[in-house]
Amino acid sequence: MDPIRMERRQILRFISAVILLTSPLLTSTLENGLARTPPMGWLAWERFRCNTDCVNDPDNCISERLFMQMADLLVSEGYAAAGYEYINVDDCWLAKTRDAQGRLQADPERFPSGMKALGNYIHSKGLKFGIYEDYGNYTCAGYPGILGYLELDANTFAEWNVDYVKLDGCYSHPVDMDRGYPEFGYYLNRTGRPMLYSCSWPVYQIYSGIEPNYTSIKSSCNIWRNFDDIQDSWQSVQTIIDYYGENQDAIVPHAGPGHWNDPDMLIVGNFGLSYEQAKSQFALWAIWASPLLMSVDLRTIKPDYKTIIQNRKIIAVNQDILGIQGRRIYKDRGIEIWARPITPVVRSDFSYAIVFLNRRTDGTPSEVSVINRELGLTHEAGYIVEDLYTNKDYGILTPDDKITVDVNPSGCVMLRFTVASAFQKAHLPQNHIFGLSSNINQDHRQLPQRLQWLARFPNIARSLEADQLKKREVSE
Ligand code: GLA
Repeated sequence: MDPIRMERRQILRFISAVILLTSPLLTSTLENGLARTPPMGWLAWERFRCNTDCVNDPDNCISERLFMQMADLLVSEGYAAAGYEYINVDDCWLAKTRDAQGRLQADPERFPSGMKALGNYIHSKGLKFGIYEDYGNYTCAGYPGILGYLELDANTFAEWNVDYVKLDGCYSHPVDMDRGYPEFGYYLNRTGRPMLYSCSWPVYQIYSGIEPNYTSIKSSCNIWRNFDDIQDSWQSVQTIIDYYGENQDAIVPHAGPGHWNDPDMLIVGNFGLSYEQAKSQFALWAIWASPLLMSVDLRTIKPDYKTIIQNRKIIAVNQDILGIQGRRIYKDRGIEIWARPITPVVRSDFSYAIVFLNRRTDGTPSEVSVINRELGLTHEAGYIVEDLYTNKDYGILTPDDKITVDVNPSGCVMLRFTVASAFQKAHLPQNHIFGLSSNINQDHRQLPQRLQWLARFPNIARSLEADQLKKREVSE
């Protein structure tokens, strides 16, 4: 062959190899193996915000001291033993400028030991270290963003032994995010250090009228925000409940091991939620397979609220290995029913977590009663039924039995229906799967017909005998 043509060919081959090796978009799929179940931990933002006044408010300002205290309490107060493992810094940790080499640096007054030392402290407690940045020019609170420094910043985080990166989207163009978020994910992966990647990509796109490409999002991000910031009120929690109910067809199919919808932080134990409302938030976050990121002052949380966030049975629902996000299957006159298929599974029959939610404001509990079959509970051997807040044992109920619960105003009743079988009696482990195709973890579009039927609002209205509701005129 003509030596010049051969040389050209070699050059072309070399160029394509270089493109292949260096193009983030070609190699940006998420390969970090993290978040096989929804992440659990503590996140500063909702409760501590951007309080940088360590002179007048040293106990509550965003400083290394605050995060070290929370790490101590996560372990000493039993949260870590219940599964909470991340201590996550949010906005306002940064100095206003990068250092002389262009690297990010922490505010020297509030983080005098630096972020690597904070990470070391968190790791010394057996916990994991999360950090916050923003894809734009600035973070939402006006500190340096990563735009123009993606590779350098990913490397800096790896050098600091970061385990979790939340990447916000203020001061950037939502149209650029389809490229920018995968690109930063690529640089994170290329460091070789597994870092959980939390993205705000869809929510900014939704705000600006762009339909998020969840196929791409879930191949880059471990978790992603799709709705407003949570605020300290039941009203705010309810807007999230409505968003997750009304948009479930668009978002539920994308949740699964390694990639989850993120409805934002738990505010259980703060100022805004009553005890009943706090139980409702926790129950629904479990039904949705949501990240459980508490944003609460662990130094002052009241015991009742601590009991809610450490409820192991509800945490087990949240962490169920199938990773199927639950759905709203009924909504009428202020009563909602939410259902999530969970393990154990016997011959393709799932166990379920069911939440009965009362959003009515009349001050007496509403009685809700429903035939189990109408909830999709058709396993002929029946279900072992238990209340996950009160531990009330309902014994074994068959598909044709009726379940009746009293649901407090703005509260919920959360039940677990565990498939009963010969194996069950011999203490089948909770996450056992028997007789189900093994790839259910990967693709829950393979759910049996019955579940798809559930997803389309079953005709349970006929048998949902909210007796008290019927007796009373509903004034809503
Ligand atoms: C955005 C995010 C919040 C928080 C703040 C910090 O609003 O959605 O979760 O990180 O920025 O400024």
